Amino acid sequence: MKLCMIGTGYVGLVTGTCFSDIGNDVICADVDNNKIKNLNLGTIPIYEPGLEEMVKRNVNQGRLKFSNDVSDAIRKSDIIFICVGTPTNKKTNEADLKYVFQVARKIKFNLNKYKIIVNKSTVPVTTGDKIESILKRNKFKSKYDVVSNPEFLREGEAIRDFVVPDRVVIGTKSKKALKIMRSLYLPIIKKNSRFFSTSRRGAELIKYASNAFLATKISFINEMANFCEESDINIEDISVGMGLDQRIGERFLRAGPGYGGSCFPKDTRAIVSLAKRFKVNLSIINSAIKSNKNRTKILFNRILKIVNNKFKNKSIAFLGVTFKANTDDMRESPCLSLIPALISKGAKINYYEPTGQKKELDKYKNVTFSKKVSDATKKADLIIVHTEWNEFKQLNLRKLLKNKKVIVYDMRNIYSPEKMKKIGIKYYGIGR
Ligand code: UDX
Ligand code: UDX
Repeated sequence: MKLCMIGTGYVGLVTGTCFSDIGNDVICADVDNNKIKNLNLGTIPIYEPGLEEMVKRNVNQGRLKFSNDVSDAIRKSDIIFICVGTPTNKKTNEADLKYVFQVARKIKFNLNKYKIIVNKSTVPVTTGDKIESILKRNKFKSKYDVVSNPEFLREGEAIRDFVVPDRVVIGTKSKKALKIMRSLYLPIIKKNSRFFSTSRRGAELIKYASNAFLATKISFINEMANFCEESDINIEDISVGMGLDQRIGERFLRAGPGYGGSCFPKDTRAIVSLAKRFKVNLSIINSAIKSNKNRTKILFNRILKIVNNKFKNKSIAFLGVTFKANTDDMRESPCLSLIPALISKGAKINYYEPTGQKKELDKYKNVTFSKKVSDATKKADLIIVHTEWNEFKQLNLRKLLKNKKVIVYDMRNIYSPEKMKKIGIKYYGIGR
C-alpha cells in the first residue's frame, strides 16, 4: 500500500519505518527541512534502539522515502497518517491542535482521490469530527474516511511495541476503511495480538484513558513507596505481591522518581481539562497529576535528610537525566524540576548521560556534564541514580568510589540494599 506519515517525530518515524518494513511504500514527510535533509543523509534524529538499521534497510530497498514536500506526499498516498505533535496549550491545559488542523487543511487541498486519513496524534474526543468537517468541501470532491488509530509506542521499545502490539485500535464507522486498515495491519495482528474496532470517538478516548490509567498506576505505587519508607517495608515486594494478581498485573508498578515523557504528563492534563468541558470531574486522574507533581518535593526532602540538611557546596552526581532509559528524550523528565531545586540550595551537580549533554540543563551555572561515569562521580558526596540505564546496573561501585564516604540514592531501585551494605556503601532506594 502507499502510505505517508505527516510529521516525522518519534511516532511518525517509527510507524513509517515499521510499515515500510512489512512491505509498504512509505513517505515520511515533515515541515522541518533540516530533519528531512539529515534523514536523507542517513542521520536519525532520535535515539531509538534498532531504528537506524531498519531505516537503512528500507531506504536501500526503495520502500522508505523522506520528503519535505507534504502536499506531494499526500497526493501520492492512499493512506495518510497524521503524526504531528499535540503539545499542552498552556492557557487551557488541553491539547493544542493547531498542527493537526494545519495538516488537515493541507490534506483538503491535495485530496486528489479517495484516501483514508488516519489520526495517530493523541487528540481529544471529537477531533476526528473536526478533521472531517475541514475536508468536506475539497475541490476534487473526493471521498475520504477519517479514522482514529492511536499509537501505543513506548520510547525505547517502540519497534517491539509496533511489531508485537497488545492491541491495534481502529475507530471508524466506515466498513471500507476498516477493511483496508485491517489488511494493512494483517502481518502484525496475525501474531496473536488483538485488532479492536470501535467508534472514532471511542478510539480517541481509549488512548487518553489508557495513558491516564497507567499514570495513575504509577502515582499509586509511588505513594505506596512513600508509605513503605515510613514503615520498614520493601516496595519491591509490594509490587511483586500485587502484580501477581492478574486483575492488577505486574507492569507499570515500578516505584521511581515520578512519571515523565512526552505523553503521560500531557495526556493526563488534557483529559482532565477536556472532561471539564463536558462538565465531568475526573477526580482520580486529577489526584494522580497532583501526586506526581508533589513527587519532586518528596524526593527533595528525602535528599535533604540524606545530606543532613546541608546542601551548601555538596557535590551531587546524577546518573542519567532522561525521563526513562533507552531514549534521549528529556521532555518532562523528573530531573528538570529536581535539579533546579537542588542548585537553588547551593548544591553542585555533575551529570553523566549515555545519550550525551542536554541543552535543557545548559542554562544552569552549577550543572556540568561529564563524558564518563567516573568523571561525574569523582568528587561526588552523593550519587543519584535517576534513570535506569543498563550500563549502571553492573557498575563496580566499590572500585569506582574508592574509599570515599559516598552516599548512593537509587531512584530506580536497580541495586540490592544487601549488596550495598556488604560493600560498605551508604545506600537509599525508593520505598525501601
Ligand atoms: C506524537 C504524537 O503525535 C502526539 O500527539 C503523541 O501524544 C506523542 O507522540 P511525537 O512524535 O513525539 O508526537 O512528536 P514530535 O517528535 O514533536 O514530532 C512531530 C513532528 O511533526 C515534528 O518533526 C514536526 O516538525 C512535524 N510537524 C509539525 C509537521 O511536519 N507539520 C506540522 O504542521 C507540525
Ligand atoms: C507512553 C505510553 O506507555 C505509550 O503507550 C504511548 O502512549 C506513549 O507514551 P513513554 O512515555 O514512551 O510511553 O514511556 P513509558 O514506558 O510509558 O513510561 C512513562 C513514564 O512512566 C516514564 O517516566 C517511566 O519512567 C515511568 N514509569 C513507567 C514508572 O515510573 N514506573 C513504571 O512502572 C513504568
